[in-house]
Amino acid sequence: MLRIRAMTAQDVPLGMRLKDLAGWNQTEADWRRLLVLEPAGCFVAEWDGRPVATTCVSVFPPVGWVSMVLVDPPVRGRGIATRLMEHGLAYLDGRGVPTVRLDATALGRPVYERLGFAAEYEVARWEGFAGGGPAPAGESMPSAAHNHASRAAPVRAATVRERCSCARHHPGIAPVGAGDAAAVAALDAAATGADRSRLLDLLRQEQPDAMKALTRAPPDVWRAAAGESTPSAALGGYSWVRPGSRAMQIGPVAALDDESGRALADAALCACAGRTVFVDIPVPNLAAMLWAESRGLRVQRRFTRMRRGRPAPDQPLRIWAGFGPEKG
Ligand SMILES: CC(C)(COP(=O)(O)OP(=O)(O)OC[C@H]1O[C@@H](n2cnc3c(N)ncnc32)[C@H](O)[C@@H]1OP(=O)(O)O)[C@@H](O)C(=O)NCCC(=O)NCCS
Repeated sequence: MLRIRAMTAQDVPLGMRLKDLAGWNQTEADWRRLLVLEPAGCFVAEWDGRPVATTCVSVFPPVGWVSMVLVDPPVRGRGIATRLMEHGLAYLDGRGVPTVRLDATALGRPVYERLGFAAEYEVARWEGFAGGGPAPAGESMPSAAHNHASRAAPVRAATVRERCSCARHHPGIAPVGAGDAAAVAALDAAATGADRSRLLDLLRQEQPDAMKALTRAPPDVWRAAAGESTPSAALGGYSWVRPGSRAMQIGPVAALDDESGRALADAALCACAGRTVFVDIPVPNLAAMLWAESRGLRVQRRFTRMRRGRPAPDQPLRIWAGFGPEKG
């Protein structure tokens, strides 16, 4: 007998157990953020009174984002994910959301197709060891084989971290101040086709220094403005990184041009030096895919970005890293 009820903070351990069984990267903070974003939009399914499955939806106007569709392995194939999805979609209909999106795993895709979702594009999850920032001219980047060796040898990782000089990064990269928040949200909305300002505010509150903005200006302007706050009018992109249960997750990273995207992605990688990283990159963004390859990362898996309802144009070429499947 199936019953669907609201998820609460007390269900976070259930969510953690289910996502661990699926080998996912989320932390308790990720679950709690979903509950804060949409307290009435997170659901638990109980089978004969036992909690066995979860699904969360978030509203980033005009998009409703579906995530954390997880079913306990012993009760899969009984229609539980389908029923939870129908419940979540009815909730989003009630909120008047015209577009629903998600990043599907291979297991989830057939369930969503039967519910009317269609594929938009692929998202590649790159994985690797962050050995430092971009190599100086004449120095080759660490290879994937080298990265594995580094992972097995923490001493080597420390050595690599010492080599990482963020001074090599774009001089315009700095933590996002409150005055830049609106410009960051506007750039993110243009890239993703969704207003994620509430999410971005939460991320800045959680880790104020982890969100970085890149402002574009000629070098002489940087010298003149040293020590002063940077003008948000010239914002070229932003980035965020967060700890996951298996790896540091780089993303979101959105940029107006490839040069800004590369610089922000390198700075994010540098911020994760000495750690394993995941980066979810839309496959159409060839420049970002080539960046990941050049930095010694390798594709670990793929997701399918899917949509139901009206198109909400995003710009994958400006997305250098998605947030991750739970927020797109
Ligand atoms: C993907 C996942 C959520 C599906 O959950 P589920 O509850 O098994 O999904 P459903 O039962 O609704 O549908 C799955 C299959 O069961 C079938 N089914 C549905 N109702 C059924 C019933 N009453 N009896 C038997 N089979 C049934 C469906 O037709 C479907 O068949 P398929 O093999 O052709 O795909 C689950 O496999 C899971 O948690 N996987 C790991 C995490 C993951 O990848 N999540 C998706 C993220 S995008």
